[in-house]
Amino acid sequence: MNALSLDTVVLSPDRKELLILDQTLLPNEIRVLRLHRMEDIREAIYALRVRGAPAIGVCAGYAMALAGAQAESTDKDGFFAELRSAKELLASARPTAVNLFWALDRMERTALENREKSIDRLREILFAEADAIYREDIAISRAIGEIGFSLLRPGDGILTHCNAGTLATAKYGTATAPMYIALERGMRDFRVYCDETRPLLQGARLTAYELSSAGIDTTLLCDNAAASLMAAGKISIIFVGCDRVARNGDAANKIGTSAVAILAKHYGIPFYVCAPSSTIDLSLSGGTEIPIEQRPGEEVTDLWYEKPMAPRGIGVYNPAFDVTDHALITGIITEKGLCTAPFEEAFSRLGI
Ligand code: MRU
Repeated sequence: MNALSLDTVVLSPDRKELLILDQTLLPNEIRVLRLHRMEDIREAIYALRVRGAPAIGVCAGYAMALAGAQAESTDKDGFFAELRSAKELLASARPTAVNLFWALDRMERTALENREKSIDRLREILFAEADAIYREDIAISRAIGEIGFSLLRPGDGILTHCNAGTLATAKYGTATAPMYIALERGMRDFRVYCDETRPLLQGARLTAYELSSAGIDTTLLCDNAAASLMAAGKISIIFVGCDRVARNGDAANKIGTSAVAILAKHYGIPFYVCAPSSTIDLSLSGGTEIPIEQRPGEEVTDLWYEKPMAPRGIGVYNPAFDVTDHALITGIITEKGLCTAPFEEAFSRLGI
């Protein structure tokens, strides 16, 4: 099945549940979870059943709409208190992807701006806002894809890291959108190389799966094979996603991204970060201010193995993200345009 036809996260037709494709089971099993409890939705985000910065934002938007629908208070203060407690619970799921906080703030702000309306009306407004986040996400991915596509040349070898694909968004992905647009336009003369992306293997399980299922020429490599691939002249352009970009252009993305950027600089390969403007956090001056999620050591020692592959009790360093220095980034592709250094000025020119 073409993964482009899968819904990452949508609302059930009766608007009582979130339908979340459980990405921890891919590519072996396609299972859709039906969740309505805030604790379960938080768990789905924490456990990476739904993951990727834009998809987390879409999920958070719908979760807030569900929280509004489920609120039991009949008075406004109680209703807003229930919304706030859902927001706080969801915000604790993961720290790095700013889209989570962006979507939660947007939903709360929308409710507050309509405070004088009835609770029933507020519920409708929240569902409409979550739908808007969903629809905008698709449009944003396509706009990023158009700009990325304009940078492609026949015969390109494209490297990508982690999964910034359709599975990480409402549709098309960010780093993968140029590839899907290329297919739509009948350009097939390119090959995509996917870093497997240790330790959670988003590149192997998700990106390799979704691109190959769409009919794109896809090759998987171990993360530590990237230098040899670049040295062999196989890579002409690199697209990656991001979870948060600081004002100066420093970009947090899946662990290992900064190593790819350093290699790209050495081999003179253009390195592009694909970033919806909702991922750009102008409140942070540089990448050292981006909170980096640390995840359990068992993801490294046990998760994909029948038996543990490291000594019991060994200390593990398992950051989920790293920050790529802006000096290593050729361009940041937003839905509003392509930004080059100095990035702060470029963001401001585009009204970001
Ligand atoms: O831990 P994950 O799988 O949520 O990490 C995802 C990434 O790092 C993506 O590249 C990023 O969120 C952008 S997705 C369009």
